[in-house]
Amino acid sequence: MNILVTGGAGFIGANFIHYLLENYPEDRIVNFDKLTYAGNLANLADVEGNSQYYFVKGDIADQSAVDSVFSAWQIEAVVNFAAESHVDRSILNPNVFICSNYVGVSTLLNAVKRFWVHKFVQISTDEVYGSTPSGNLFTETTPLNPSSPYSATKAGADLLALSYFKTYGLNVSITRSANNYGPLQFPEKLIPLMVTNGLLGKSLPVYGDGKNVRDWLNVADNCRAINAVLRRGKAGQIYNIAAHNYVENIQIVKKIVERLKVDDSKISYVTDRPANDQLYAIDDSKIHHDLGWQPEIDFDEGINQTIDWYVNHEQWWRPLLSGVRNR
Ligand SMILES: NC(=O)c1ccc[n+]([C@@H]2O[C@H](COP(=O)([O-])OP(=O)(O)OC[C@H]3O[C@@H](n4cnc5c(N)ncnc54)[C@H](O)[C@@H]3O)[C@@H](O)[C@H]2O)c1
Repeated sequence: MNILVTGGAGFIGANFIHYLLENYPEDRIVNFDKLTYAGNLANLADVEGNSQYYFVKGDIADQSAVDSVFSAWQIEAVVNFAAESHVDRSILNPNVFICSNYVGVSTLLNAVKRFWVHKFVQISTDEVYGSTPSGNLFTETTPLNPSSPYSATKAGADLLALSYFKTYGLNVSITRSANNYGPLQFPEKLIPLMVTNGLLGKSLPVYGDGKNVRDWLNVADNCRAINAVLRRGKAGQIYNIAAHNYVENIQIVKKIVERLKVDDSKISYVTDRPANDQLYAIDDSKIHHDLGWQPEIDFDEGINQTIDWYVNHEQWWRPLLSGVRNR
């Protein structure tokens, strides 16, 4: 299969490309990425020489660039990771989120329709459901209630993708996953930010009272889930991907402090992000039953391995620090 992976130079996309090249050596992978501040070809340096992997620089919101890549590489399936992904940045500049996360998806869908591509997987997020203060688990049919410009653009893209299934019969599936953690994440997101700040002796800025809860999914588990949706997901279906590791942000920071043996007086509570959702919690029984997927990686083991990965890869994260947006 010729698979177009968009946003493959980012965190989850790069992990997914590694997963595909290791497990499906017969597939040809084309990574189409704009290389924003979050796109980093160093994430794929080890596969540059692989004859099944190609990189094309481009913007998913640019229809002629997208059409060229579909036609030149005879694309058969698309997995769309490309997006502006940092909620804080969406509060400061929503327009770039609208262009990449919404217009970009419409551009890809137009190409999928024109070039008769067999499968389109839109990578979405549990944030489209908004916060669940009661702790009820959201299912795939729960109405969307996004809080940030980021999650609103992702919700809009989901609805657009589903409309292309309903109206034109395109084979579209959507994944909505919990918060991912693992190697290769840009060091402005919670875990790599805290580890790198800790290693640099800087303060550890925690939003609000630190009691916001996220469900933490290992990126390797997410890659397996996305692959199941790519190969066996049904047209027009949405799949929640959860981990059932509900942890307060402050507990994550304390785990990092403990592992790095940093003084916990470095933790500082800063003004909360506007409209910060209290809790994301999703029901993923559909992907268990329909596709036989379930998370496998133990959280304590996964988080320790992740912290150690950043400790051991200073040469990876140090050049990225100038692009980090401070809290
Ligand atoms: N990280 C998470 O915890 C999480 C959770 C659920 C869903 N998601 C979704 O997963 C996807 C990947 O997230 P991530 O954390 O890897 O993001 P990331 O910010 O690390 O990577 C995004 C990648 O997309 C590229 N990109 C951005 N705009 C582009 C454009 N217009 N054209 C082409 N490439 C473009 C960037 O250069 C970068 O390589 C996103 O769609 C995000 O909404 C992420």
